[in-house]
Amino acid sequence: MIKQTLLSLGLALGLATGANAAGGESHIEDFDFSFEGPFGKFDQFQLQRGLQVFTEACSACHGLQYLYFRNLHDEGGPGLPEDQVKAYAKDFFVYDAEIDEDREAKLSDRFPPVVDSTAPDLTLMAKARAGFHGPAGLGINQIVKGMGGPEYIASILTGYTGEEKEEAGQVFYENTAFPGGWIAMPPPPIYDGELEFADGHANDAHHVSEDVAAFLMWTAEPKMMARKQAGLTAVIFLSVLAALLYLTNKKLWAPIKRKSQ
Ligand code: HEC
Repeated sequence: MIKQTLLSLGLALGLATGANAAGGESHIEDFDFSFEGPFGKFDQFQLQRGLQVFTEACSACHGLQYLYFRNLHDEGGPGLPEDQVKAYAKDFFVYDAEIDEDREAKLSDRFPPVVDSTAPDLTLMAKARAGFHGPAGLGINQIVKGMGGPEYIASILTGYTGEEKEEAGQVFYENTAFPGGWIAMPPPPIYDGELEFADGHANDAHHVSEDVAAFLMWTAEPKMMARKQAGLTAVIFLSVLAALLYLTNKKLWAPIKRKSQ
């Protein structure tokens, strides 16, 4: 009987994973980010490098339209000095309804959308995608490893096989991380050694992808560190409260319990 149950369980699991594979299992690498876990923090220098990668390799096609330029100065983020952010913003042009013209961007402006681009906005992409689903589509990996949004982005960037095909006038590039296996985004210019970092950090494609993915996690959830801090404080507070309540309860009932013996 037990043997039979085990057998059918194994069969069901096998079928479930089989179905998953048939649906186009994409390969997501489990990158080791500094902001993982309950004590995880953003690495300020990594966010600065990520901003550089985004600016040089992604901003031609992708916008960040929910991010204000002034956010680049915020504590907990890339934390750039205000004059640097001002100078950075000047390279972007935004439409100003008051003067009905385009003008140089200021700290109080948001990143402008990219004109004539079919690429999706990336501000919230790290929270809009899940990298981990398994095992067998149960989502248990998400509890263990996190949702995997930034891992998904970094895996897309490192997942090109070099194959391409044309369908109905559109070129698709084979990518091991993209669901379905073929993406319309050409491999961005982040090859080994393509970008140069001022802090001398490793600039191979793997590290560059990791940096830009970390930066996009920050744009998607800039207050992540504050959220974790508040959660931790709440857990400590509730533990102390629970201990005090237990002792109070014990003390209050002590005379009554003694009498009934
Ligand atoms: C030449 C234009 C171009 C550049 C440069 C570019 N992308 Fe894309 N990207 C696209 C297009 C087009 C899509 C839509 C692809 C699709 O849906 O098949 C896309 C989609 C994406 C997606 C979403 C995939 C999904 O699940 O929908 C991510 C993430 C992404 N790009 C990240 C980046 C990053 C990070 C960079 C810079 C390192 C970058 N892209 C550079 C054109 C570009």
